[in-house]
Amino acid sequence: MPNVIRINDLQTALQALLPVTVGCGVQQAVGEVEAFQYKEEGQHMANAVLARRNEFISGRRCARMALAHIGQVSCALPQDADGLPIWPAATMGSITHSRGLCCAVAAPADKIMYLGVDLEKTNRLSVRAMERVVHPLEAATVAEDQALGSLLFSAKEAFYKAQYPVWGAQPNFKDLALQIHHDTQQLSVLKIASNLPAQLRDATHRMEFRYQFIGDYVVTLCWLEL
Ligand SMILES: CC(C)(COP(=O)(O)OP(=O)(O)OC[C@H]1O[C@@H](n2cnc3c(N)ncnc32)[C@H](O)[C@@H]1OP(=O)(O)O)[C@@H](O)C(=O)NCCC(=O)NCCS
Repeated sequence: MPNVIRINDLQTALQALLPVTVGCGVQQAVGEVEAFQYKEEGQHMANAVLARRNEFISGRRCARMALAHIGQVSCALPQDADGLPIWPAATMGSITHSRGLCCAVAAPADKIMYLGVDLEKTNRLSVRAMERVVHPLEAATVAEDQALGSLLFSAKEAFYKAQYPVWGAQPNFKDLALQIHHDTQQLSVLKIASNLPAQLRDATHRMEFRYQFIGDYVVTLCWLEL
């Protein structure tokens, strides 16, 4: 499927899955050399390969599209020391890219507390990686299904991105067990590791998890409304 179709499908999927308070943007990174829209965003990219540089630029463009949806004027989104985008005051967001396809979500910080997005190919997860990602409580549902394994991988990455700006926690994939609800394209939390902070565990049980398969990609979202 050409990516132009995926861009439209991904945009439509995100809009359908997200609460109205969250904006989103979708883009395909270009193949030729692109300029940074804001020079302060590109300072750590001097030695990056072209694909990574363009993915970064495209991700930032998606982030500004998402921010525009929530009324934020265009501005630089530099990177902090941990590699997180620095969002404008009173906003928050998340960025993902996979093979040049990029998307971002953004929300007012007084409406949403945690927000994570992740995009993954569904046909690339090795058997070894599946073993690392799938929790024993998830094993019967996933069996050897690579697409379902990729869905769990992606949802856990979205969760990681959502919690990191608040907690800086670095959970393992098996610290979280999720149940897939195919009929509603939701996931629910079966278990969260007891070594994580109690407040994070409590918030995790209240988070919304959503997903959609689009061609050979899966997009996942995780958020908590205030
Ligand atoms: C940080 C991480 C989640 C990024 O995911 P990825 O699939 O490799 O890459 P994506 O393209 O989806 O996301 C990259 C973007 O995430 C953002 N990001 C980077 N580090 C981040 C962090 N610690 N927290 C939140 N967002 C982060 C950035 O915006 C980055 O894009 P940019 O550099 O162009 O700005 C991943 O590399 C990682 O370290 N995972 C840890 C293991 C894990 O997920 N465990 C799950 C436990 S339940």
